[in-house]
Amino acid sequence: MLDLTVTENLRLHSHYALLKLTAPEKLPEMHPGQFAEIRVDGSPATFLRRPISINYVDRGKNEVWFLIQLIGEGTKHLGEAKVGDVINVLLPLGNGFTMPQNPSDKLLLVGGGVGTAPMLYLGEQLAKSGSHPTFLLGARTSKDLLQLEQFQNYGEVYTTTEDGSHGERGYVTQHSILVKKNFEHIYTCGPKPMMMAVAKFAKSKDVNCEVSLENTMACGIGACLCCVENTTEGHLCVCKEGPVFNINKLLWQI
Ligand SMILES: Cc1cc2nc3c(=O)[nH]c(=O)nc-3n(C[C@H](O)[C@H](O)[C@H](O)COP(=O)(O)OP(=O)(O)OC[C@H]3O[C@@H](n4cnc5c(N)ncnc54)[C@H](O)[C@@H]3O)c2cc1C
Ligand code: FES
Repeated sequence: MLDLTVTENLRLHSHYALLKLTAPEKLPEMHPGQFAEIRVDGSPATFLRRPISINYVDRGKNEVWFLIQLIGEGTKHLGEAKVGDVINVLLPLGNGFTMPQNPSDKLLLVGGGVGTAPMLYLGEQLAKSGSHPTFLLGARTSKDLLQLEQFQNYGEVYTTTEDGSHGERGYVTQHSILVKKNFEHIYTCGPKPMMMAVAKFAKSKDVNCEVSLENTMACGIGACLCCVENTTEGHLCVCKEGPVFNINKLLWQI
């Protein structure tokens, strides 16, 4: 458990905040796909911590970033944090994405909505280890496509929007890059219907695929059993055994 200090809180647009936090001591090792449980102080309605993915780790500045969609009491409260505020954070939690054994240019990272959050750190770490990832990011409109410039630092970026205001119109699974290029591993995070469609695509092409689940959580450490997912190994806590799962382990009807 760490008391982290807010260094920046950027409102990317009305519904998203990018919260940057630092610590007096060196931040612990964090792997892409892991998450934090963030305590929301000063709000009686938010007794439980809120699970938020690690969006990026800036080792030079000793900062961890969280991209937060402001949808309810807890996230809206976090969106109002001021520079210098101290926020109590439990991190890193869960198991992250599998890194390839050898650098590859056949890695596809698919993010939808705020599910793009863990893809930035994953992309940075993949690029750092010699891979050249491809990003496929989907949102409702161009306004909801966030951090595009940062993504472009680590690989090629393709987008879809539902209204056609950026990239190809439609859903990520309809993007033409999926037929133009072959991939050997797909990583995805986003709304469950999107991840199921990505998993179905991966299965149809016999491509390895990992998804990051966002089941509702409370404790975040495997104690309350409120986040269980039915898998080939029985009911597993997403917070402890996930949030990243290989699709072959999930009992999704796809
Ligand atoms: C592993 C994991 C990683 C996540 N990463 C991010 C991220 O990087 N950025 C981001 O914006 N959001 C992320 N989420 C979702 C985020 O935790 C919820 O949006 C947040 O907890 C909502 O809190 P709230 O008080 O604002 O809303 P509430 O008023 O509590 O609820 C609003 C909506 O959020 C859902 N929700 C509420 N509590 C949780 C919870 N504990 N877990 C999941 N869903 C919940 C509810 O079903 C409801 O639809 C992640 C969730 C998980 C499980
Ligand atoms: S959130 Fe409590 S067991 Fe997963």
